[in-house]
Amino acid sequence: MERLTLRHPRGESAIVVGAGALAAAADELARWWQGRRVFVVSSAPIAARFAGALEGIEPAGAALVHLEVPDGETAKTVEVARRLWEGMLAAGGKRDSRVVALGGGTVGDVAGFVAATFLRGIELTQIPTTLLAQVDAAIGGKTAIDLPGGKNSVGAFHHPHLVVADTELLASLPRADLRAGLVEVVKMATLLDPGLLDVVEEGLDGLLDGDPRSLDPVVARAIRAKVGVVEDDPEESDRRRLLNLGHTLGHAIEAVLDYRGLRHGEAVAFGLLFALRLARRRGLGPDVARRLVGLLGRFELPPLPPLAAQRLVDTMARDKKARESGIVWVLPVAMGEGRAFADVPLEEVERELEAFLREPFKL
Ligand SMILES: NC(=O)c1ccc[n+]([C@@H]2O[C@H](COP(=O)([O-])OP(=O)(O)OC[C@H]3O[C@@H](n4cnc5c(N)ncnc54)[C@H](O)[C@@H]3O)[C@@H](O)[C@H]2O)c1
Ligand SMILES: [Zn+2]
Repeated sequence: MERLTLRHPRGESAIVVGAGALAAAADELARWWQGRRVFVVSSAPIAARFAGALEGIEPAGAALVHLEVPDGETAKTVEVARRLWEGMLAAGGKRDSRVVALGGGTVGDVAGFVAATFLRGIELTQIPTTLLAQVDAAIGGKTAIDLPGGKNSVGAFHHPHLVVADTELLASLPRADLRAGLVEVVKMATLLDPGLLDVVEEGLDGLLDGDPRSLDPVVARAIRAKVGVVEDDPEESDRRRLLNLGHTLGHAIEAVLDYRGLRHGEAVAFGLLFALRLARRRGLGPDVARRLVGLLGRFELPPLPPLAAQRLVDTMARDKKARESGIVWVLPVAMGEGRAFADVPLEEVERELEAFLREPFKL
């Protein structure tokens, strides 16, 4: 187990990571909850599995109030956020009440957004229960909800005071969700920590099986990589933008499929494959590209549903990461190095996209 600190413009987040992190953080949580209303936001299946563990921590004088959101991406809507705000107000929520996000990235994003905005912001703990949320979504203070036409279109930066990333909670996570989380690990490794990519390649079978001996070191190392970038560029004006690798097309795929067809991590995997195509045309060496395509090929991804190139392009042009001047692409330029490109011609994107949709794994 490890304790990390993320320093950001408004203070610090503590991150406790590893097997047994929740038990190790119990006293700290109890102190932080003492005498407060604590709004525990979760979906029904996650609450059924894990809410009991929090009851065990509840100190005298605290009141845990459970608030339920729909399971999955449909939690990230204005309607759900509004229900949470109203539920908190009705239950006597105050400026010094607490929010606990217990769940995957979707719960973390909507609960974090509600914590950021309720009474102009109340304190938040993230207890991520998916691999994706442990390595990525719970770290770095980004919170968001979706609009029908745009993923994460409304949001705020709101850092948790504490993140408890207990890898033991991943024991029940389905293989497909492990894979989705590993895609974000591959993204970070490609840009920031090539040594981590070696570890993922070598340990992939164990990682996809959810073997804690494989997962533990990977989760801690991916979190360290993300912490480094967020500390460098907390509000995404420069280096943090690199973490959008694979997300330009990935988010468009999710929006066009109405957030239902693929998991976030799966859509990002396809986005990453497409980014490799554009990157190859801008000098990325064939070895690096082949290596990543080969690795993602071992991920047992579901097939890409039928999609129209034009709709994807229109959706990308509307995405919040696009500028008035056009779509910005984050592309790897070498192993461990990425860059943002604002000058990829739209005709090239359309042409490559047509070819990609026919054969996503071809370079
Ligand atoms: N804020 C950020 O910086 C950031 C970064 C990356 C991704 N995201 C967001 O994260 C979301 C994706 O998160 P996700 O992949 O965790 O999806 P998710 O939250 O939908 O969780 C996936 C599924 O796993 C189940 N689950 C959760 N924990 C479990 C456990 N321990 N055992 C068994 N089942 C469990 C959930 O019930 C759910 O059905 C997307 O909305 C994405 O935009 C945010
Ligand atoms: Zn992502």
